[in-house]
Amino acid sequence: MRSVQYLGTMAPLLRSLFGTGVKGQIAAISLRTWRTFTTGLRSTSPASPERDFPRMPHCEIQPEKYQGLSYDAIMRIRRENFSHFEMTYYSKPLLVHQGHMQWLWDVEGRRYLDFFGGIVTISVGHCHPVVTAVAQEQLGRLCHTTNIYLHPHIHQYIKQLSNLLPEPLKVVYLVNSGSEANDLALQLARSYTHNHHIITLRLCVQMFSEGYGVGASVEILQSKHYAPVTAQLGVNGTVQYPKGFLKEVSEIIRERGGVYISDEVQTGFGRLGSHYWGFQTHGVKPDIVTMAKGIGNGFPMGAVVTTPEIAASMSHATFNTFGGNSLACVIGSTVLEVIEAGGLMGRCEALGNHLLLELAKLRQEFPMVGDVRGKGLMVGVEMVKDKESQDPLPAKEIDEIWEDCREMGLLLGKGGMYEQTFRITPPMCITEEDIDFAVDVIRVAMQNHVERRSKAL
Ligand SMILES: Cc1ncc(COP(=O)(O)O)c(C=O)c1O
Repeated sequence: MRSVQYLGTMAPLLRSLFGTGVKGQIAAISLRTWRTFTTGLRSTSPASPERDFPRMPHCEIQPEKYQGLSYDAIMRIRRENFSHFEMTYYSKPLLVHQGHMQWLWDVEGRRYLDFFGGIVTISVGHCHPVVTAVAQEQLGRLCHTTNIYLHPHIHQYIKQLSNLLPEPLKVVYLVNSGSEANDLALQLARSYTHNHHIITLRLCVQMFSEGYGVGASVEILQSKHYAPVTAQLGVNGTVQYPKGFLKEVSEIIRERGGVYISDEVQTGFGRLGSHYWGFQTHGVKPDIVTMAKGIGNGFPMGAVVTTPEIAASMSHATFNTFGGNSLACVIGSTVLEVIEAGGLMGRCEALGNHLLLELAKLRQEFPMVGDVRGKGLMVGVEMVKDKESQDPLPAKEIDEIWEDCREMGLLLGKGGMYEQTFRITPPMCITEEDIDFAVDVIRVAMQNHVERRSKAL
């Protein structure tokens, strides 16, 4: 069997890729020296004081020379042919050209440590060599037939995936994205319960075709509904539920004839470190689970898993042209194998603890770090005006810190009602040295902020 052969040969490669995570020495490098190391560095930063940049960990890969469309041509197409609602990050949007594991390069050859992972999507690493090799091989053999025919990979993959879920969650549907997965989950829930309404959480971005979530509290859930819930909120600023909340919610939903859907689009596949799925960290068992993002390490995939009983309630056939296509299934299988063979879930736990401890130091050092929270490699740093009021730091000031981090080679996400929380969700292949670099960068960006603030007074 391919997976068995492949696992045997993969271990040394994985060891060399992930190393042992030994803490590296972080030295400072002057801004001038840094500029000689990087090509085309242009300050997009908001008047950063001339402070030393932390030294980026070494990477042996040299990016290819970019020979594509110019930045200006790309920006013109963006203005003329894209919807104005398609937002980009940063005042000068980043034009990315190449990726390798935790690293991205822009078209000028500048390297970035990707601590957002393509919005929590790069699970095992950008262009992971093993995933890439297996995908290339399959692309040359068979890419797509649609599920009107049998093909081996979908069966192998569905078996592997269902083995990762507790009984009776054993029926798997393959789709192409998290939104599709959630839409299908709603169809299943409606056919099973004959209820129509849903309850979900404000800003949880579960992206049903019906729209975003509304606020939900245990009181609201006292009505007869079913509720899709994610195990830890990402877009809403990496908020963790209070202990016991999900358990109580799922009990109330079931008492009222609803079903509990767990959206594992961000929290699944071991990212939280202690468990493979977020719902397991709360000691609950959903009726339907949806997943995407990290499932394909950047390949567009999604899945829904439910019980045979709920699946049987949907009497019409489901059909999805691309869901479960051969290439997607081979990639999905390989991602699962890489997570397993590399012990990536355990790494998430150890690295996540290190990250939280280092970030906690920033909370002590800076008045505007209101909270540091999260689990595994899904962490949030909430920025506030001051610790007493806990009011969000004004957006302009948050952006200055964020742009400064990018300038020093660190990419972070943002989330929360006021976009006041930095979201940290790197690929699972990062090292302790990367974390130390990232925290040093954030520290320098915060020192710059304090300096700017004192000058403005
Ligand atoms: C928790 C969650 N569920 C679902 C989705 C939708 O996934 P997709 O963008 O693949 O449609 C997202 C997207 O960010 C998400 O964060």
